[in-house]
Amino acid sequence: MSSTLTIVDHPLVQHKLTLMRRTDTSTAVFKQLLREISHLLAYEVTRELDMTTETIETPICEMEAPVIAGRKLALVSILRAGNGLLDGIVDLIPSARVGFIGLYRDEETLKPVQYYNKLPANLDERLTIVVDPMLATGNSSAAAIDLVKQAGATNIRFLCLLAAPEGVARMAEAHPDVPVVTAALDEKLNEKGYIVPGLGDAGDRMFGTK
Ligand code: URA
Repeated sequence: MSSTLTIVDHPLVQHKLTLMRRTDTSTAVFKQLLREISHLLAYEVTRELDMTTETIETPICEMEAPVIAGRKLALVSILRAGNGLLDGIVDLIPSARVGFIGLYRDEETLKPVQYYNKLPANLDERLTIVVDPMLATGNSSAAAIDLVKQAGATNIRFLCLLAAPEGVARMAEAHPDVPVVTAALDEKLNEKGYIVPGLGDAGDRMFGTK
């Protein structure tokens, strides 16, 4: 089984992504665009949530109205760049439970090193959406998904802004049960593990650290 890859080709997503890719886009604008895009991506990644109904009173009459079924969903951000996507999703789903996984990429081996892990309870009963803007080698994403699976999650999706074919292949091999949602599938990785054409270092661009 290979994981499904969904590319959100909505014109608003694609236009905003182009603005984000541009070198001359400022930190403030980059951050704002990421927040706006994350609303649109959240819409897509939650499209198939299970629904139920509850009886409510409108000013006119009683009705059976649709609501999302089950436990509040869990959002897990891979620090630090994941927080840029997370903020916008929390705008839309303020009651979501939020976890953080701290992984940094060893610049020589390109392998993830864990330094933080705090996850919501009862992951086995929640849809868990793991977020990181850049699916590059896929090593950090696969490692983060290992951790949420160890914590009990079985219904997992991975949301990113940009994906490289190498990262998509790594996820399909490591976690074929985890659907991946992205705004674009770029061409390749360069020798430093950056996505080409990409947008550079997402963390640096959103936090202005370079
Ligand atoms: N992480 C980033 O921030 N950018 C890339 O291109 C790859 C990994």
